[in-house]
Amino acid sequence: MVNAQIGIIGGSGLYQMDALKNVEEVTLDTPFGAPSGSFIVGELAGTPVAFLARHGRGHHLLPSEIPFRANIHGMKQLGVKYLISASAVGSLQAEAKPLDMVVPDQFIDRTRQRISTFFGEGIVAHIGFGNPICPQLAQCLSTAIASLELEGVTLHNRGTYVCMEGPAFSTIAESNLYRSWGGTVIGMTNLPEAKLAREAEIAYATLALVTDYDCWHPDHDHVTVEMVIGNLQKNAVNAQRVILETVQQLAANPFDSIAHSALRYAVLTPPD
Ligand code: ADE
Repeated sequence: MVNAQIGIIGGSGLYQMDALKNVEEVTLDTPFGAPSGSFIVGELAGTPVAFLARHGRGHHLLPSEIPFRANIHGMKQLGVKYLISASAVGSLQAEAKPLDMVVPDQFIDRTRQRISTFFGEGIVAHIGFGNPICPQLAQCLSTAIASLELEGVTLHNRGTYVCMEGPAFSTIAESNLYRSWGGTVIGMTNLPEAKLAREAEIAYATLALVTDYDCWHPDHDHVTVEMVIGNLQKNAVNAQRVILETVQQLAANPFDSIAHSALRYAVLTPPD
């Protein structure tokens, strides 16, 4: 089996990594069914990485249809210890403008129909999730973004990602409610991934790429799919540069994350 310690999940607009070399397509089965698609395993600047397009390469999965458990299980099977999730998000704050990059440190869960745990069916566990993002991995992303000095892109190195169910975008009242809760950005996918990654003892961090001002901003049009994809395509090259830089940093300075021992005190059910 191929082994890659670094995993990358690409969201809307980021369906492949152009700099990947010696690419192999790996189709995996998992106890939770088939992942979103095959994993693309290859080398980024000489470091093995596994890439997966979250919505499928032809973008055929709604956020609620993404097989999150299979995706994270597949990453674990490939040996992934660090998982970078690139995701399009709407901005809930004026200072985070379209094309900016946010590295969130918190989540608010507004999903309603996702299975966000590997446990149950006889095994009870409660992982700690106070800090849902691996701080060192987030720092690597922020350092990479800052070092690249990308034109027109401001880095926001903390923030709260509100994860909604979708697929419809929010109402103005909801968008304002999330703003009043302190939300920085809004998306539809990252929270289940972060929880499952933590249960799988994989360090997880989000590279949130701002594509729109959702629907709360009086001076900006309400979010549309065209806006999201248009802005993300503009930023896809930058996102890939950030990921490449982060992978190089990580390969040079691997670290132990709290995520790597998340299950140590989490399981309540005694072994047979
Ligand atoms: N992804 C990109 N923009 C979004 C928005 N405004 N709401 C939810 N998900 C998004």
